[in-house]
Amino acid sequence: MTDLRNYISTHSLGSPLQAAAGEAILALSDAAAQIATLIREPDSSADFAAAQGSANADGDTQKALDVICDEIVASALAAAGVSTYLSEEREEPVSMDKDGLVIVACDPLDGSSNIDTNLSIGTIFSLLPAATGPLQPGRNQLASGFFVYGPQTTLLLTMGEGVHAFQMDASGVFHLLDWAVSIPAQTSEFAINAANARFWHAPAAAYVADCIAGAEGSRGRDFNMRWLGSLVADSWRIFRRGGVFLYPGDRRAGYSEGRLRLIYEAAPVAFLVEQAGGRATDGKNAIMDIVPEFLHQRVPFMFGSDTEMEEIIRHHS
Ligand code: AHG
Ligand code: MN
Ligand code: MN
Repeated sequence: MTDLRNYISTHSLGSPLQAAAGEAILALSDAAAQIATLIREPDSSADFAAAQGSANADGDTQKALDVICDEIVASALAAAGVSTYLSEEREEPVSMDKDGLVIVACDPLDGSSNIDTNLSIGTIFSLLPAATGPLQPGRNQLASGFFVYGPQTTLLLTMGEGVHAFQMDASGVFHLLDWAVSIPAQTSEFAINAANARFWHAPAAAYVADCIAGAEGSRGRDFNMRWLGSLVADSWRIFRRGGVFLYPGDRRAGYSEGRLRLIYEAAPVAFLVEQAGGRATDGKNAIMDIVPEFLHQRVPFMFGSDTEMEEIIRHHS
């Protein structure tokens, strides 16, 4: 069975830039193996969920595990010769190796609200060429992926030649899964935080109302809803069985552009989604085409099964 190291060695031969990307991905997998082990330690959740009394640049209260994961990832990347580290948990870019060829943008711990609920959480990463600086459109990504720390510790990865899935064994080795990753084009399952319904703008509200109207409504079939509060967990399910995920902008103060951050949440997931035959949009533009104006920029984020995404885009046009 192929493991991640074998996979990287055969997928990053083309250039020094690709070799540097491969090194960064292996460093991230070592960090993920450390994080997965840490989370499984007894008594970890009580400590790890503790608020640190600090907020990150986007205003989120930092949990202990947010900060610990950020430090584990940062030290792994520094040892891998990465040029610059962009993190949800760091206000500014962190310069590492001045001769480094790759920028790594990262959400070190996605799903922080789930740390002490024993639900799946994860780490999201995006690799960009260092030559062009931190504010690049997702289209420039060299690779992206996310780890899920759940009943299984898994990795979904793209280096621009499709999407591959891996599962970590007890020793921390990631093994390639026999899964031709492709998001089913059709779905009857949507993911949205329905508690925010009264704040939604018309397009999202109309789309969700049609789903809820089910067989008696204009869609002529019943839908199901899932919302896990961890982007990585909702995403893994959508890659596995199809679905659509919506975190639109809404009327709440601070949520006009939704909640998810472009550089280290939406763009890396959008790269995987497009590589797996799905669509990822802010309602009007492909996520991958949006040029960030600042590091912690939020973006309305809707992605998933191609045919169902057409319906969502229709509502937004
Ligand atoms: P993070 O824990 O890195 O801040 O990300 C949480 C994100 C995403 O994982 C999830 O889909 C979304 O926030 C949940 O938002 P609500 O709590 O508003 O539902
Ligand atoms: Mn996140
Ligand atoms: Mn996070």
